[in-house]
Amino acid sequence: VKSTDIIYTDSIRDIDWHALKARLREDDFDNGRSADQLRESFANSYAVCFARCDGAVIGKGRVLSDGVCNAYLVDLWTHTPHRHHGIAREIVRRLSEKLQGQHISLQADADVAGFYRKLGFVDQPHGLSRVVGKWLTRR
Ligand SMILES: CC(C)(COP(=O)(O)OP(=O)(O)OC[C@H]1O[C@@H](n2cnc3c(N)ncnc32)[C@H](O)[C@@H]1OP(=O)(O)O)[C@@H](O)C(=O)NCCC(=O)NCCS
Repeated sequence: VKSTDIIYTDSIRDIDWHALKARLREDDFDNGRSADQLRESFANSYAVCFARCDGAVIGKGRVLSDGVCNAYLVDLWTHTPHRHHGIAREIVRRLSEKLQGQHISLQADADVAGFYRKLGFVDQPHGLSRVVGKWLTRR
């Protein structure tokens, strides 16, 4: 697709969550959330960004933030056939515009660390994380 055919949006309006989940699953980037959990996690985020082509989502990302100093970038993804055309870079740029003065953290696998370094992210000496209880299960 031409870059002019891609529309970037910062709202969850009109997103077909079942179609998005199916596409993520087919693209090997489904972390187990149901379509409704996917919607809820985006709805509860500080900022979201979708790249869309003919209505379909071909890229997305979101940030959690306290609105003051700390933000966390998650769910960044570009549909495999559309990779290496600057879509994720544009998503991160748009999300970052809403995070002036804030520190953005993220967790990435080694094979995508180079992408983030290109965008100015620097490696952190230690990353620690923990799941509380069972993944995706609320009590
Ligand atoms: C990582 C990912 C989001 C990049 O999406 P993309 O739309 O292809 O990225 P862009 O085209 O905007 O790339 C921007 C720059 O980073 C480079 N880049 C892209 N993927 C890269 C990678 N895996 N390693 C190193 N550099 C990479 C591009 O070549 C481009 O460089 P350039 O500006 O010099 O041409 C995409 O590969 C993806 O969805 N991967 C699977 C999901 C994932 O791992 N997400 C991250 C979770 S932390």
